[in-house]
Amino acid sequence: MKKLLSVLLSVAVIATLLTGCGGAGGSSSGAKKVGVSMPTKDLQRWNQDGANMEKELKAAGYEVDLQFANNDVQQQVSQIENMISNGCNVLVIAAIEGSSLGEALDMAKKANIPVIAYDRLIMNSDAVSYYATFDNYKVGTVQGEYVVKALDLENAAGPFNIEFTAGDPGDNNAGFFFNGAMDVVKKYIDEGKLNVVSGQKTFEEVATPTWGTDVAQSRAENILSSYYADGTNLDVWLCSNDSTALGVENALAANYKGTYPVITGQDCDIENTKNMIAGKQSMSVFKDTRTLASQVVKMVGQILSNQTVDVNDTQTYDNGVKVVPSFLCEPVFADANNYKQILIDSGYYTEDQLK
Ligand code: BGC
Repeated sequence: MKKLLSVLLSVAVIATLLTGCGGAGGSSSGAKKVGVSMPTKDLQRWNQDGANMEKELKAAGYEVDLQFANNDVQQQVSQIENMISNGCNVLVIAAIEGSSLGEALDMAKKANIPVIAYDRLIMNSDAVSYYATFDNYKVGTVQGEYVVKALDLENAAGPFNIEFTAGDPGDNNAGFFFNGAMDVVKKYIDEGKLNVVSGQKTFEEVATPTWGTDVAQSRAENILSSYYADGTNLDVWLCSNDSTALGVENALAANYKGTYPVITGQDCDIENTKNMIAGKQSMSVFKDTRTLASQVVKMVGQILSNQTVDVNDTQTYDNGVKVVPSFLCEPVFADANNYKQILIDSGYYTEDQLK
């Protein structure tokens, strides 16, 4: 009897594994299944991305397995492996660390499951089929151009003082954001119109592991106490995103008494949008997560029905093994002047959420 049971059990396990293989997968209802792996619930944007993806995929008739990995790479790997064992037909992955998903990706490849890299490129793997994101370099240039305009760098004599805070070195996007911004403001640094008082201006020097608010805050506190405590004025803090901008804003509140600087960000997180309205952050690049979700749902449909997949960039995103065909959505900036139109009229936030 025991033996019979264990034979039956093994047959069931093998059957599950077999149905997990690519096209043969899906759910008992016959709907195709999409595994969506998000990095963390800690940051507002990933919650929104996850919720939008789930909503749109379900509306398009798919079954969805949505998981958040607590910013823990090993957890993300095992969640993806489970999605594969449970029979998903396509994987959509926003990687915690672009290069650390090796085993899970090998498994996806063996099972013939297409992988879409979501927002962050998956590095050093040929298992990734497509990439959907916002134009990451442009995010940086929009931030740089905002600074040029805010200080009227073309005409003003300056010199102005500036500091930089960039993102996580494990996230391929972080370099694009930083380089985009630096490519715009570098000319003014070279001319002497912008002065990096701390001297920290390489990506490595200004990066923020994990994109942590606390990490950005403690670096900002160090800079403020080392270089600005004598009353030196700070004109700009160019931050790559909102979680790091928040750290800088916290540090300024407690450690700086000069004229309040121009501060850039990205994501239009609620906390940062409130700070924008209150004059504590100048702008934030808005990446409408609904747009990205719709694009990815479209990609999923095109992949599963063997149609040509819409891409608009086949050159920029080399993951070390291949150039991944990409769809880049357009970012725009929001600030205290246009946030109502961009964030409220578009239904992204309600007025109450920003109170
Ligand atoms: C995303 C940003 C986000 C950052 C931190 C990046 O990969 O593109 O929108 O602010 O990660 O989560």
